Amino acid sequence: KSAPVVAIDGPSGAGKSTVSKTLATAIEAAYLDTGSMYRAATLAVIKAGVDPSQTAQVTKTVKNAKLEFGTTPEDPFTRLDGEDAGLAIRGDDVTKAVSAVAGNKTVRKFLIEEQRRLIAEAKNGIVVEGRDIVEVVAPDADVKVYLTADPAVRAGRRASEFGADTKATAKDIQRRDTADSKTTKPLEVPAGATVIDSTDLPIVEVVAKILALLNNRD
Ligand code: C5P
Repeated sequence: KSAPVVAIDGPSGAGKSTVSKTLATAIEAAYLDTGSMYRAATLAVIKAGVDPSQTAQVTKTVKNAKLEFGTTPEDPFTRLDGEDAGLAIRGDDVTKAVSAVAGNKTVRKFLIEEQRRLIAEAKNGIVVEGRDIVEVVAPDADVKVYLTADPAVRAGRRASEFGADTKATAKDIQRRDTADSKTTKPLEVPAGATVIDSTDLPIVEVVAKILALLNNRD
């Protein structure tokens, strides 16, 4: 039962990152935040002054950017052209443009290949979080989870995480859920996934549930 791949999908604010990092640390596995990859690609597009809706230019910019991703849960760094981009990828400009860049088919294909390469490289197993992980990126994952929560709770969590206003965050989450629905259906439960609702569950209990799924697999 070694080197498990755990796939965690769900909408923003459901607790994916905290849960995935905690779980990866607990099982001494790697950790991959695929959202950071789409965000880093978007930062490259913004820095190049390219309009996110210009498909061909976006594709070229992302393919030419030097993107590096750390896969240890203690230091999941994101670098763009050799520089740390961990803070910049969380900026408002990136958050506003990311759905458009993530909707670019070639960009998706390119980043999904990179995701699969990083998964294959993780010899001690990996926890992968994002949006189309269960059905597209890692359909052979050992454990598949759809982590969700009440929309108001999701907004509250995101807002406190970034010190932002809850109402504005709720609006932003709704806008992004709608925009992302064209590409990855963040509000639908992927086939084969176990649903965990974190509305009233503390992080440790969500992690315990996933650990139980891991221990009970055949
Ligand atoms: O999870 P996070 O909010 O950082 O994701 C940022 C954006 O990246 C999402 O809104 C979505 O547009 C895109 N994304 C995606 N597929 C993934 C992960 C993220 O399209 N696997």
